[in-house]
Amino acid sequence: MQTARPATSPIPAAGPAPAVPVVPRERLAAARVLVVGDVMLDRYWFGDVNRISPEAPVPVVHVQRQEDRLGGAANVARNAAALGAQAGLLCVVGRDEPGERIVELLQVSGVAPHLERDPALSTTIKLRVLSRQQQLLRMDFENMPTHEALLAGLARFDALLASQDVVLLSDYAKGGLTHVTQMIEKARAAGKPVLVDPKGDDWERYRGATLITPNRAELREVVGQWKSEEDLLARVTALRTSLALEGLLLTRSEEGMTLFTADGELHVPAVAREVYDVSGAGDTVIATLAVMLGARLSLVDAIVLANRAAGIVVGKLGTATVDYEELFAPAG
Ligand SMILES: Nc1ncnc2c1ncn2[C@@H]1O[C@H](COP(=O)(O)OP(=O)(O)OP(=O)(O)O)[C@@H](O)[C@H]1O
Ligand SMILES: [Mg+2]
Repeated sequence: MQTARPATSPIPAAGPAPAVPVVPRERLAAARVLVVGDVMLDRYWFGDVNRISPEAPVPVVHVQRQEDRLGGAANVARNAAALGAQAGLLCVVGRDEPGERIVELLQVSGVAPHLERDPALSTTIKLRVLSRQQQLLRMDFENMPTHEALLAGLARFDALLASQDVVLLSDYAKGGLTHVTQMIEKARAAGKPVLVDPKGDDWERYRGATLITPNRAELREVVGQWKSEEDLLARVTALRTSLALEGLLLTRSEEGMTLFTADGELHVPAVAREVYDVSGAGDTVIATLAVMLGARLSLVDAIVLANRAAGIVVGKLGTATVDYEELFAPAG
């Protein structure tokens, strides 16, 4: 998706590429990141189609293989763990098979689970049916967590907060972040940076966050379509000020990313060499930012590294994480 930009106002030239800082492994290992949000399971069923159903004009898929991946906030937490940080995940899941599968996958990924079990909830799962690399159907199972489960989650948030360096709120609009405003207030009162990956058009609920990381479509939904880079700056500044956000990082797919703070703008161009799979790049960005801020890097250094991590992850098929070696390997 390309946004039209008038020739008179290009994205600010980035100048010489900012130097990529090297962070010792131990520093990342000391960073404690709490991810809170909506988890989901991405499930893929693969099989062959040899006939059309006698019941309805639809293909019959003979399912031969299943693959499961962590999605939503769980994918974010997995990205933080892959970099070597101490990542925990606070969320609500159901008492069902997809919920169990999420627990297993979190364990494999090295993420500490802080799961609230809600017997009335169907754990969010997106089930795709594929044949010969073609997606034939996607089925989504989801509903809202109960009030009780969400309140229990909030109490657990209180208990976990003191032992964290950064709080990361990953909103996929499934209800897991019903109490997001209170979580931000509590975390800020405790002096912890709060990063938010937003969803929807009501950002009042993210008031007071340290940094919010929308993509272009998400930002457009809230501030409208900007006509130029100057117009974008004006719209973002008004939003940032009115919601008391320290920073806004606009991720711009192939155009890289732009940071807006009271100090001004910083644009970092995309660094991908080859692009195979862009889904989940936003998760890698916010997870890397959280890990780097948890390791006490400056916001600018954290963004340079997050941009580099995104450039690596879009070049991968399948695995959607970047590890320490990949991120800090000398370019070449
Ligand atoms: N086509 C691309 N070419 C180069 N870099 C890309 C491309 N798409 C994404 N990136 C990198 O990934 C970052 C995040 O991508 P994007 O802005 O698409 O986030 P997103 O829409 O939140 O992603 P998602 O929601 O699918 O995880 C970009 O800022 C850029 O660094
Ligand atoms: Mg995103």
